[in-house]
Amino acid sequence: MKTYRLALIGFGNVGQGFAQILQERGNWLLELFGVNFEIVAVCTRSRGSLYDPGGLEINALLDSMQSHNSLSGIRALHNDWDALQIAGDSNADVLVEISYTDLETGEPATQTIRRALETGKHVVTANKGPTALHYPELLRIARENGVEIGVEGTVMSGTPALNLGLGSLAGAGVRKIQGILNGTTNYILTQMESGASYADALAQAQEKGYAEADPTADVEAYDAAAKVVILANTLMNLPLTMADINRTGISELTSDDIEQARGAGERWKLIGMVEKQTTSGYVAQVKPTRLPVMHPLASVSGATNAITYTTEVLGDVTLIGPGAGRQETGYGLLADLLAIHRNSG
Ligand code: HSE
Repeated sequence: MKTYRLALIGFGNVGQGFAQILQERGNWLLELFGVNFEIVAVCTRSRGSLYDPGGLEINALLDSMQSHNSLSGIRALHNDWDALQIAGDSNADVLVEISYTDLETGEPATQTIRRALETGKHVVTANKGPTALHYPELLRIARENGVEIGVEGTVMSGTPALNLGLGSLAGAGVRKIQGILNGTTNYILTQMESGASYADALAQAQEKGYAEADPTADVEAYDAAAKVVILANTLMNLPLTMADINRTGISELTSDDIEQARGAGERWKLIGMVEKQTTSGYVAQVKPTRLPVMHPLASVSGATNAITYTTEVLGDVTLIGPGAGRQETGYGLLADLLAIHRNSG
């Protein structure tokens, strides 16, 4: 049996979803893979910080958040370590970075991730800020230090969009990627088609844990643009930045627009895409697009996402699955952890 000690930076929707998976499936993971995950630290911005090299009780962490939305009251050897100190000086084997996403600076998550990698810890993260802004640098630091960085949860939550591209499709020559890459906006569009108002649909998406802490990132398509950047960087060897993405969100779409599309046998979808051009360069954009209802992406509804890889060898390969959510994103972290475990053996 191999034990991995985990330090969680952030304990919001995704962190708690991830902890729940460990709580529910811990024994099963042990039986199936001979692997045991132990949480030694949980560090939040305003709900407390705990570090105990001997391990923390997952049940107690979840109960405490559920009963009073705080970690205070849980006993741990240290309750004053900040994220950087935990990343650098704790006995964790893996830093699980799931704090607030900042798509402008990537901070403070990026410096925490750097510190963990430089001190020989693996990192798994669902945080799109550091990944969209600094992935090539972080990957280099990881390699220099003989550790891994896993970012599966950043695109389509736990649906294996990145691993499919990095693994099975790596030799197929991906020329173009397009799809529905944001769960919140797809949920809103679906609800509006059923008659809900924009405001109510957004409130529901927030309540279900799909939306970003500041949902402007979702509705103005910064989140989908970040995912296009991540896909371009990781799967197409295109060093794009956020500024390279032509971006339009859904906040201007009205119920009338949706009705008009319906009358014409079409549906609005927020489509992200990046395509290598045959001559030079690329096209990269996110924009609301009217699709005929018979189009394969038109039937992808709610917080479900879909991605189509257009490859030189296989033609189109499409993957459909959850795009957001607590356990859905938590699963992306687990998938990366299990990959680290596989690679270590
Ligand atoms: N807010 C994001 C979405 C979360 O709705 O897709 C998953 O990245």
